[in-house]
Amino acid sequence: MKPKVLVTREVFDEVLEYLSQHFEVTSNQSDVPMDQGTLAANLSDKQGALITLSDKIDAALLSQCPNLKAVCNIAVGYNNIDLNACNKARVMATNTPGVLDDTTGDFTWTLILATARRLTEAEAYLRNGQWDGWKLKQFLGLDVYHATLGIFGLGRIGQVVARRASGFEMKVIYHDVRQASPEIEQTYRVSFVKKDELLAKADIVTIHVPYSPATHHLIGKGELEQMKPTAILINASRGGVVDDAALVEALRSERIAAAGLDVFENEPKLNPAFLELKNVVLTPHIASSSKATRLKMAMLAAQNLVAALMGKTPPNLLNPF
Ligand code: 8YV
Repeated sequence: MKPKVLVTREVFDEVLEYLSQHFEVTSNQSDVPMDQGTLAANLSDKQGALITLSDKIDAALLSQCPNLKAVCNIAVGYNNIDLNACNKARVMATNTPGVLDDTTGDFTWTLILATARRLTEAEAYLRNGQWDGWKLKQFLGLDVYHATLGIFGLGRIGQVVARRASGFEMKVIYHDVRQASPEIEQTYRVSFVKKDELLAKADIVTIHVPYSPATHHLIGKGELEQMKPTAILINASRGGVVDDAALVEALRSERIAAAGLDVFENEPKLNPAFLELKNVVLTPHIASSSKATRLKMAMLAAQNLVAALMGKTPPNLLNPF
């Protein structure tokens, strides 16, 4: 008998075909998000699951899934999974590092340029029929070339963002819990600075840290007050790393110039005040969303699930026990 697995959200056909070679697959191709009760009911007889960031794996859920052996996230971030609870329940958890770095780095640049040059605001103005002719002072933006880029988190994605900055001849500074090796600093032409210095010096602040209690509200009222009034803030990491209410205030009062955001606290229910503001570019958590990369992410998660349930160590195991 094949092990039973659940795929909690819609995935590509190739992924379902691959999984079906090994498992009896129940999939949610209609893509309706499941609440915790529905998820638990669907997982109660399953040995494994392919999950996404909207599926919360915690002790209460695991207590209702006696057969579960592995949960494989289609994401590099895994703040939706309580690893301690997984350890106690002897459930393996995996993520998808590496395959989305370049695509997410590209999208960070999409947000940087769109925010600095006020792309969505200008496009809305044109689409609304408000454009009545060229004006010297129309949609004045921030120059990206030669500006100082400040990166919070010089991990895989932070490094991709740094590498692309050389094309714009920027000065790149970064802050992280640990300073990178001299080789890494040389390769990416970056200099380590304290958090305060990054906030005070950067024209563009971009965040690439995972979400955890330690990074909760890494950027709040105090940090926004330390930024230049001309600076922009970019977040394509996780909601909760930025205090959205404080950011709304900073944007409203023009304490900082603008923000580009792909992630939000309590997404998909973002703070409604963002929708009223012109100086913010908003996208619905799509930084990794190229066709090729989302397929790679889902396939890697599926490979982790196959390894986990076939008695092998999954390549991206988060909680060896
Ligand atoms: C995913 C992400 O699209 O990988 C991550 O951590 O945030 C995105 O790339 C999302 O998490 C889907 O589960």
